[in-house]
Amino acid sequence: MLVLGIETSCDETAAALVADGHILSNVVASQMDLHASFGGVVPEVAARKHVEVIGYVINEALGSAGKALEDVEAIAVTSRYGLIGCLVVGVAAAKALAYTLKRPLVGIHHIEGHIFANILSNPHIPMPHVCLTVSGGHTMLVYVKDLCQYEVLGNTLDDAAGEAFDKVAKFLGLGFPGGPVIDRLAAQGDRTAYNFPRPLRRSGTVDFSFSGLKTAVVNRFKGSDISTLPVSDIAASFQEAVVEHLVSKTVQAASRADVSAIGVTGGVAMNSRLREVFAERCRQEGHQLFFTRTDLCGDNAAMVAAAGAARLAHGESADLYLSAVPNAPLESAA
Ligand code: KG4
Ligand code: ZN
Repeated sequence: MLVLGIETSCDETAAALVADGHILSNVVASQMDLHASFGGVVPEVAARKHVEVIGYVINEALGSAGKALEDVEAIAVTSRYGLIGCLVVGVAAAKALAYTLKRPLVGIHHIEGHIFANILSNPHIPMPHVCLTVSGGHTMLVYVKDLCQYEVLGNTLDDAAGEAFDKVAKFLGLGFPGGPVIDRLAAQGDRTAYNFPRPLRRSGTVDFSFSGLKTAVVNRFKGSDISTLPVSDIAASFQEAVVEHLVSKTVQAASRADVSAIGVTGGVAMNSRLREVFAERCRQEGHQLFFTRTDLCGDNAAMVAAAGAARLAHGESADLYLSAVPNAPLESAA
């Protein structure tokens, strides 16, 4: 089945065509440069940009796959979890297309999309598995019982991991988004230079917390002349604390759930040290590790189309009353 996916939940306008697990096109118009001068995503600015470019992005997804609009057999759109003004743009576009083409429509939870980015990358990932979705807007551990069946095991209690990368980078004057710059600088730094706190180490839960860690970095260097600081060492030490926290909670969650397979997905899954430490720890613990391929880690619409195909195969679809919901829980994904 040829599914058109649409994703506009944050600052990427994306459209993709996926047929039976094969990505025919995957177009992402990033607004990164637009938001860089503000040091973060401005919801109103993002929504307006989605309205401006959504038509072109869908056209490009069709054109680069060599398909016409009439070839599309179903439409999947991110309708839950994200910035409300941004979500409504994609939902309105998807509904207009479903209505005019008379094709089934399905609304997808953004986190479910990221889980499917991992499944698209690793079609043979065992079920059940534990999936860490870690990004600028979320940090969540999900028990994936089977396709479209989830149980949330842990969540961030405050900031998302990517948000912490972005805020620390902003404090150090490194620009936005912060994750890729910190990743690059950390490669030349000493990760033992500063001993930043490992959050919730003794909590007994598999939740996350990043706000105290971010504040520890800021407080340690507040009032200093940033240009004189060993920025690579700070980046490496901060990154090490984030990575340790993510890996230890994920491995703990997999052991408790008694599953051997771990998936990792979302923008922060591109982090090179995270990939290294996960590989090391999973080898020690005997877990199988499945990272999302890097071109599907960030927000994209191929993951939405893939999730849509699975939901439609389960006999689910939405009607034209489909609404955008900014903070719906994942379990309500059906
Ligand atoms: O999945 P994504 O594109 O959008 C959201 O759903 O949030 O993730 C964006 C986040 C940003 O916070 C960015 O700093 C972070 O992913 N990120 C990274 C890396 N590349 C992107 N964080 C750490 N290391 C990276 N290499
Ligand atoms: Zn995302």
